[in-house]
Amino acid sequence: MSGTKAQQAPLAVIVLAAGQGKRMHSDLPKVLQPLAGKPLLTHVLECAAALQPAATHIVYGHGGERVRAALGHALSVGDASLPLNWALQAQQLGTGHAVAQAMPHVSDEQMVLVLYGDVPLVRRETLQQLIELAGPKAVALLTVQLTDATGYGRIVRNRQGEVQRIVEHKDATATQRRINEGNSGILAAPAKLLRRWLAKLKSDNAQGEYYLTDIIAMAVKDKVKVRPLIAPTLAEVLGVNDKRQLAELEAHYRRQRADELMAAGVTIIDPSRIDLRGVITTGRDVQLDVNVVLEGPVHLGDGVKVGANCVISAARIGMGTVIRPNCVIENAEIGASCQIGPFARVRPDTELADDVHLGNFVEIKKSRIGRGSKVNHLSYVGDSIVGSQVNVGAGTITCNYDGVNKSQTQIGDGAFIGSGSMLVAPVKIGAGAVIGAGSTITRDAPDDRLTLERSQQRTIEQWRRPTKKT
Ligand code: UD1
Ligand code: CA
Repeated sequence: MSGTKAQQAPLAVIVLAAGQGKRMHSDLPKVLQPLAGKPLLTHVLECAAALQPAATHIVYGHGGERVRAALGHALSVGDASLPLNWALQAQQLGTGHAVAQAMPHVSDEQMVLVLYGDVPLVRRETLQQLIELAGPKAVALLTVQLTDATGYGRIVRNRQGEVQRIVEHKDATATQRRINEGNSGILAAPAKLLRRWLAKLKSDNAQGEYYLTDIIAMAVKDKVKVRPLIAPTLAEVLGVNDKRQLAELEAHYRRQRADELMAAGVTIIDPSRIDLRGVITTGRDVQLDVNVVLEGPVHLGDGVKVGANCVISAARIGMGTVIRPNCVIENAEIGASCQIGPFARVRPDTELADDVHLGNFVEIKKSRIGRGSKVNHLSYVGDSIVGSQVNVGAGTITCNYDGVNKSQTQIGDGAFIGSGSMLVAPVKIGAGAVIGAGSTITRDAPDDRLTLERSQQRTIEQWRRPTKKT
């Protein structure tokens, strides 16, 4: 009966997301609350996408239009796209009722996988295993061993260890409440049988709800196998109901991601003080200091060192580059053996070639900087094309904005820009040109010449410092 992969039924994922999440005390619907920078529901859907379902249905509730609007009709995952079907559950009458709202869109030959929109850390490997346990005549149930199972539905097994039914906490006897195997809520069941069982659910229980969990006893009665799978880790079945649990899951997620990078050989000074989001790839011997935030896609080449308090998003950093503390880098390509910071800001559409040095309080925006060039102190370089071996002196500013238009500055190879220069764009500084300190350059400066713009220095001989009248 345990079919091979090829025989597996097409998969329909149903994500329950109609709960209100009152305990969040937030205007943002619960499943849109961000974990590691993206909505809880997106985590669940990305995991579902990895299972390549035939269809994905999201059961949303009254007031859930915002959820629907936020996610739309498809979720893009990498290069692929996961189409989403939305099923409204106008009144929250229970998990069984919620699943039933999606069933008209599910066909009999499909295998249904029920997920919760507020259980974000479930892993694909676990779900894959669960689906493989289920079959046309078998239901698979993800359970969890808990030290305190308060609030959870309890898994009632017989002497042979076979699952008999699930009793909700509120309906459980004192003896049943001592069972420490809880229901995660995640299950896989063949659509044809599930449909039949859902139609028979009653709400004569402590909460007056249609419990999805009641299908387990129905399966047993119909001699359909119930195959439990105990979740390998607690974190992956934890739900989020309030901000405290959200922070707990964030910590789990942080640790999971840090473990992945460390397994790949990255040195992380303190895995509890790092945030890794999105896709992150690394070379050998990468080092990350405390409070680093990486928002993928980020690639760090061999030997890259990132100092404390850096935020790097959507960037590639070349081999051997050192990023000193307190830098912010966004949407940039940085070459090999560069030295960045401390306190540098690299803004979008910046490309640094190899061996570039950016020092403290330097901001680079939408610019290309050539090999071996240095911008070491207190400068702004925007909308610029800077050649190789250029030295941009302290306090240089490319004046790229006239209040309406952005204009470009070009600086040729080997140029030397004296400190405190204003380069009023559009302007071209020639190769090998030297700009005298303090110049405001408004016209192009030729190659290999000293160009400066400065008023005469004067000393006033008769001048006396003012003194206080006594
Ligand atoms: C449910 C399970 C319980 C399990 C627990 C795990 C049932 C009856 N109970 O209990 O066995 O141990 O989860 O956390 O299934 N939802 C809807 N519509 C509804 C009701 C719920 O979409 O009408 C959604 C919620 O948004 C949530 C999920 O279903 O994502 C679970 O609902 P919740 O109220 O948290 O279920 P519990 O009572 O905790
Ligand atoms: Ca819950």
